[in-house]
Amino acid sequence: MSDRLQFPPGFVWGTATAAYQIEGSVHADGRLPSIWDVFCQQPGRIANGDTGAVACDHYQRMPADLDLMASLGLPAYRFSVSWPRVIPGGAGPVNQAGLDFYARLVDGLLARGIRPQLTLYHWDLPQSLQNLGGWTSRETVDRFVEFAVAVGTALGDRVPGITTFNEPFCSAFLGYASGIHAPGETDRGAALTAAHHLNLAHGRAIRALRGLTGAELSTTLNVAQVIPASSSEADQAAAEHVDRIANRIFLDPVLRGCYPPELLTETKHLTDWAFINDGDLAEIHAPIDALGVNYYNPSLIAAATDELRRQVTGRWQNDPERSEPGPSEWPGTDLAFSLPMPPPHTGMGWPIRPESFTDLLLRLSRDYPEIPLYVTENGASFPDTVEADGSVHDTARIDYLQGHLAAVHAAIAAGADVRGYYLWSFLDNFEWAWGYDKRFGMVHVDYSDQQRRVKDSGRWYAEVIRHNGLAAAEAQLVR
Ligand code: FCB
Repeated sequence: MSDRLQFPPGFVWGTATAAYQIEGSVHADGRLPSIWDVFCQQPGRIANGDTGAVACDHYQRMPADLDLMASLGLPAYRFSVSWPRVIPGGAGPVNQAGLDFYARLVDGLLARGIRPQLTLYHWDLPQSLQNLGGWTSRETVDRFVEFAVAVGTALGDRVPGITTFNEPFCSAFLGYASGIHAPGETDRGAALTAAHHLNLAHGRAIRALRGLTGAELSTTLNVAQVIPASSSEADQAAAEHVDRIANRIFLDPVLRGCYPPELLTETKHLTDWAFINDGDLAEIHAPIDALGVNYYNPSLIAAATDELRRQVTGRWQNDPERSEPGPSEWPGTDLAFSLPMPPPHTGMGWPIRPESFTDLLLRLSRDYPEIPLYVTENGASFPDTVEADGSVHDTARIDYLQGHLAAVHAAIAAGADVRGYYLWSFLDNFEWAWGYDKRFGMVHVDYSDQQRRVKDSGRWYAEVIRHNGLAAAEAQLVR
């Protein structure tokens, strides 16, 4: 056996970011507020009262950031377009100045030999559309298609990959059910409505984009790798329920043209699903070229027993600082609970389980064998220390990445059609409800002066890319 885990020729290596997490300049060139600008102003929503108003100042520093990417030899970059820059009011005229930023970004990437991978929606809905109901309103679907057409018309001739949505699960269930993301609502029926409208917006945008661009078209899902807490029938059933309400609610309509029938009956106390119109599922089922998968950790799922109900903590995400030991409720349902998992954990308190990553990729390629996969996000937050000489020795992050790249390699070796990997993230950035406390970057950002410092993990990743693989001896895959 070779001492290197070699990836297939042509494997796409990259890093990822999202507009609101890095750009700042929230009032520049005609941009109007998104739901995240408004959410950040609400007391108690974001750790330390942080906002994305300045973030990494990438809007101003974009050329230098692209130079840094090029100096590290990064072949691909996944970024998102801010809808409130391009159509600031959510409806109405296109703001050329906002669109021009992305034209400069795309041209700047191409000039440096970096492949642009464009995501249309990474959670920053124009607030004016939220005022009309946001994703619970069917009108938002039409507005999204207009936005997709504006971007596709301007950039579709030179962007090789366009993704409609990043993690619609989070938009629907964290935005409208658990309320830990913008717009911060807590109505499970509304979350299911939002999920359907996100699906419909995806399908219609794909159809519209097909006529405008030869780009590879995709969507990105954070498919949860669901592990039943025990072999009991009740826990197995709870895990299958979560698989339907978190995963198959997006996978099945997009790739199969239907919702899982059990999902419609097991959620009938939340909604009658009357928001599905004739013809919607055919529209959602528009053919796509690839599926993006974001993976961080698996979830341990148990049936909602009375004992567990008594222990509900009310917040879904594992939070290392929380004092209550009990399990959290899975967002969007009261039929299953997500249990804490034993160490090791990242700085987010998320369990480190690379073997579950392999299982997830193999499950997707078994159940949806026709669709090529890209890992569009994977990475870890750990507290980083900048040494006196400016170096950042983030060995825990390197360990995480090694294990997870070996896990991707194992999935490919077992037959999964995985064509690329984007490390989350290029820069430390605004980590949503956790603000700037949590750092995921391969490049450290000092928020006091915006200085960028490449971490050891960044240099390590550049070597992985240069070799199109990693040394097997270093790959700590726990199997
Ligand atoms: C994902 C998001 C991304 C980032 C990572 C840590 O859910 O898509 O923006 O916050 O988690």
